[in-house]
Amino acid sequence: MNTSDTTFSEAQLAKEIERLANEMFTAPLPASPGISPEAAIAAIPLVETTAIEPPAADAPATPYFLELAGPPAISNAPPASPAFAYAIEPEVVPQVAASPGIFDAHAVKRDFPILDQEVHGRPLVWLDNAATTQKPNAVIQRLVRYYEHENSNVHRGAHTLAARATDAYEGARQEARRFLNAGTAEEIVFVRGATEAINLVAQSWGRRNVQAGDEIVVTWLEHHANIVPWQQLCSEKGARLRVAPVDARGQVILEEYERLLSDKTKIVAFTQVSNALGTIVPAREMVEMAHRWGARVLVDGAQAVSHMPVDVQLLDCDFYVFSGHKIFAPTGIGVLYGKKDLLATMPPWQGGGNMIADVTFEKTVYQPPPWRFEAGTGNIADAVGLGAALQYVTALGLPNIARHEHELRVYAEDCLKTIPGLRLVGTAPEKAGVISFVLDGVRTEDVGGALDLEGIAVRSGHHCAQPILRRFGLEATVRASLAPYNTRDDIDALVAAVRRLQLGRPGSFRTV
Ligand SMILES: Cc1ncc(COP(=O)(O)O)c(C=O)c1O
Repeated sequence: MNTSDTTFSEAQLAKEIERLANEMFTAPLPASPGISPEAAIAAIPLVETTAIEPPAADAPATPYFLELAGPPAISNAPPASPAFAYAIEPEVVPQVAASPGIFDAHAVKRDFPILDQEVHGRPLVWLDNAATTQKPNAVIQRLVRYYEHENSNVHRGAHTLAARATDAYEGARQEARRFLNAGTAEEIVFVRGATEAINLVAQSWGRRNVQAGDEIVVTWLEHHANIVPWQQLCSEKGARLRVAPVDARGQVILEEYERLLSDKTKIVAFTQVSNALGTIVPAREMVEMAHRWGARVLVDGAQAVSHMPVDVQLLDCDFYVFSGHKIFAPTGIGVLYGKKDLLATMPPWQGGGNMIADVTFEKTVYQPPPWRFEAGTGNIADAVGLGAALQYVTALGLPNIARHEHELRVYAEDCLKTIPGLRLVGTAPEKAGVISFVLDGVRTEDVGGALDLEGIAVRSGHHCAQPILRRFGLEATVRASLAPYNTRDDIDALVAAVRRLQLGRPGSFRTV
C-alpha cells in the first residue's frame, strides 16, 4: 500500500532505509545544543526590589508593582559547530527559514529528567507529545525557584515578594509577546489553555458581535475545543456554523473554504496544525481570504507553536491561542493573543478581583486589557514556567526543531509504510510531527496497550477530533506525535514494536 506521494518503489525504499540506518549508527553524534538548566535559570534576573520606590500618593494608579527589566536576552544565533547534514532531504519545511545549526536530539532528551526512566522494564519512549509535552529542567527549576524565592500574589501588596512575583509574572507576558511577535504585551492574556481562550473569545467577543442569521466558519480539521464553543454561541444567537471540507489527504479545500465566506461570516476559527492528522493549513492565505469579507479570524495554535515559528503580525490574525503544556510548560496556563484595539472593545467575561480599577456598589470600572480578562488570582507560577519554556524553545531554535521533526516524521512514515496492513491517515504534503495510523485487524486501543508494554507511549482514540476521523470513515487512530527530544531510536522502537504486533506477537488481539 502506498498512501503518500513518494516516488520510491518499495525496494528502493527498503534500500534507502537500510542505508540511513547504517549511516545513523556510524555517524558521530554532533555536539549538544541542549541548554543546561543552570544556564537557562541564570539568564533570568532575580529582581531585587530595594531599588523600587513606592509610588507617590498622587501618582496615577498602576495596574501592578513592577520593575520591568525587559526579557532576558536570548541568542537566536545558530550554534557555531559544524553543520550536521541529514540524509533525507525534507520534502517541504513549511514557514521555516534555512538554518545551518546542529541539532542533537539526544542532548535535548537529557534536558528532560522524566524521559530517563523505564516503563515495563523498557526505556520510556514518549511519542504522545500532541497530548502533552514533557518538561525540561529549565522549566522545573524555574518553578522551584519561584516557590523558593518569589511566591506571592501579584499586582497588590507593597512588599518584596509581591514585587518579585509580579515582575516574574509580567516578565512571562513579555516573553509570550516576544515569542508570538505581538506588538505589545497588552495583547497577551493569560488563560488556562487553548480551550479557555476560545471560550473567552466566543463569550466575550462573540456574544456582542454575532447575531441571528450570522455565520461562523470552521474547518473539518478542528479539535472539539474549536467546535463546541462556536456551536454553543450559534445556538444561543441563532447563527449558523459552516464547515470547510478537507480532501482525501487531509488538506483544507481552499476553493470550498472561500466559497463559504460571505458578508454573513462574522468570525472564522481554524487550527493551524491538525492534532489528529498533522496537516499544516495555509493560515496566512486563509486569514487574508476571511478579512476580505470583513470577518474576524481566530487561529488555534495549540499544535503549531512547538513545531514552527509563529508571527501573529505576519499572520495578521485577530486572535491566536495556545496551551503551555503542549510547549514544555506546565498544565493550566496558556495564552490568548488579541489585537489591541479589538481586545479594548470586548467586555470582561468573568468578574472579580484583579480585573477592576474601581468598585462601588453602583458601578465597577474595569482594568484595560489584558488584566480585564484575568479575574481572580491567576496561575502565577505556571505563567512564569511558561516564560521559561518559551525561552528554552527559542534557544533550541524553532527552525532547528522543525527540520529535525520533519526528517523524523518522513523517516517514521517511510518505515511504517513497509508494514503490511498499516494505513497512514493524513498524508498532506505539509505536515507537522503527527503520524496517525490504523492497523488492519487490530483495535487501536490494543495497539496502544501493546506499545505501552514495550515502554512506548502513543495515543489511541479519537484525539478529541471526531469529525475529521469520521471524514476518513474511522472512529479512532493510533497517533505517534513528535517533539525535539525524539530520536531515530524512538522511531525504530515504535516501528519494530508495530511490526511484531502485526506478525502476531506478543499474544493475540481481538479483531476490529
Ligand atoms: C488543535 C487543538 N486545539 C485545542 C486543544 C485544546 O487544548 P487544551 O486542552 O490544552 O485547552 C488541543 C488539545 O489537544 C488541540 O490539539
